[in-house]
Amino acid sequence: MAEEHSLLIVDSSESVRKAVRLAAEGLVARPVEAVSMSQAAASLAGGVDIVVTEICLPDGDGEAVLRQAKAGNDLAVVVAMTAEDDVSGAVELLHKGAFSVLSKPLSSQVTRQVLSRAVEHHAVLRQNRSAREIERRYSEDLEQRVTAQTSLITSLLEFTNELNALATVQEAVELLVGTFRRILNCERISVLLKTQETGQFAIVHSVGVPLEMTRRTLDLEDAPIVKRVVETGVLVHAADLGQDGRTDRGRGAFVSVPLSMKRDGHREVFGVINLTERGLGVPFSDHDIRLIRSVSDAASVACSNLRNRQQLERSYFDTVGALAMALEAKDRYTHGHSQRVTSMCMIVADVMGFSNLDMDQIMFAGMLHDVGKIGIPEAILCKPSQLTRKEFERIREHPVVGEGVVGHISFLATAAKIIRHHHERWDGKGYPDGLRGNAIELSSRIMAIADSYDAMTTDRSYRRKLPVHQVMDELMKGRGTQFDAECLDLFVKHVAESKSIPSFFGERTERS
Ligand SMILES: [Fe+2]
Repeated sequence: MAEEHSLLIVDSSESVRKAVRLAAEGLVARPVEAVSMSQAAASLAGGVDIVVTEICLPDGDGEAVLRQAKAGNDLAVVVAMTAEDDVSGAVELLHKGAFSVLSKPLSSQVTRQVLSRAVEHHAVLRQNRSAREIERRYSEDLEQRVTAQTSLITSLLEFTNELNALATVQEAVELLVGTFRRILNCERISVLLKTQETGQFAIVHSVGVPLEMTRRTLDLEDAPIVKRVVETGVLVHAADLGQDGRTDRGRGAFVSVPLSMKRDGHREVFGVINLTERGLGVPFSDHDIRLIRSVSDAASVACSNLRNRQQLERSYFDTVGALAMALEAKDRYTHGHSQRVTSMCMIVADVMGFSNLDMDQIMFAGMLHDVGKIGIPEAILCKPSQLTRKEFERIREHPVVGEGVVGHISFLATAAKIIRHHHERWDGKGYPDGLRGNAIELSSRIMAIADSYDAMTTDRSYRRKLPVHQVMDELMKGRGTQFDAECLDLFVKHVAESKSIPSFFGERTERS
């Protein structure tokens, strides 16, 4: 303990200083002595643990010493010395923070007892401070770790939520790269996917990768680590590429992780994510590796589902196209009608900011909007003369029949509703439900315009096509009554008056 505490003795009397020095032997290391305030100043400023001071000094008093001692070391323990006739000054100093008072002449036994207690008291103060400091640091550290973990969990939740809302594998890959970059601070990330045509792996998205390396097919023989990941489906972690015998490329920590899916009872690697350059000498911890596995597993499932869904969509699309073709084949006058209506609807939908999913639905609905006519005899569909009331009623059933044809396929549920309402009118006088205004699906309102436009600008069995200016007049007559005014204005601006004629118009017999 003696080595751990410093002592300053301030008194003008050599005999008093000596008495204190002798009483302190073994309690403190090498006491420092001063005859006055000015001589004590440097020691006080440097910080002393225990100060024994006369209250009345030639150039100051005990209170000044106490103040300077606390300023130099807030844990300083101050013992005052005073003559027996100056008790009031000593009591006042006790109130101001002195630890104890010694009366002169000093008793060696009492002085040692007081010094001993002063040393113990200082040790307790020091321990308390250490405990508080440890507690404070622990608390700060805990807070930082909780904040970091909370931020990480938030990022992962956002990642999962966003992943589930994506429509394509490419979008999922881009989200994956952005997430890894944010949570791991990697400067260089690349994602390779297996191309379905050749079975080779190509970079489909990257950050920090030289331009010449991107968008090119990778020869696995040139990339032994990636090759191993593809062959084994197991993550590879190299602490330092520069020291790794498996490759002579790059340096620093490197992780290569598979994206895989189950197919025909076995796990197939369809992609690889490479992560590196976290900053010089920053390794991937076990925690990082677990995180990378979790995120990659989630991305694997999402990409696998999206890929399956895209294949399913393609298959549905083929079916939809075949149905539409079969329908239009029954009537040479309506050849290409569904495709043209679809294309016009998609132009307006795009201008209106439809999401990818909504664009898909309006496309399917456009291709199938008249599929309900498939059960109507050709004699009615292609009748050159006016339809009877009964025949007309049969024609009017086609939106409901069409909804029934596709409505049982969950994927086409939204398209089915659009089909049901493509003959509704803004003023509520349409069919089959007589819906009015915004109660009609927006896609159906757009489709009603495109359908009418195409019907009037092409030859039909019962009449010749009308000139475009007359068609425009007819459409504008229905603005706000038959048609949604906002949709009609956009249609006129972006489709009917467009100078850039989409390729589908080429399929029409003529365009004025
Ligand atoms: Fe129709």
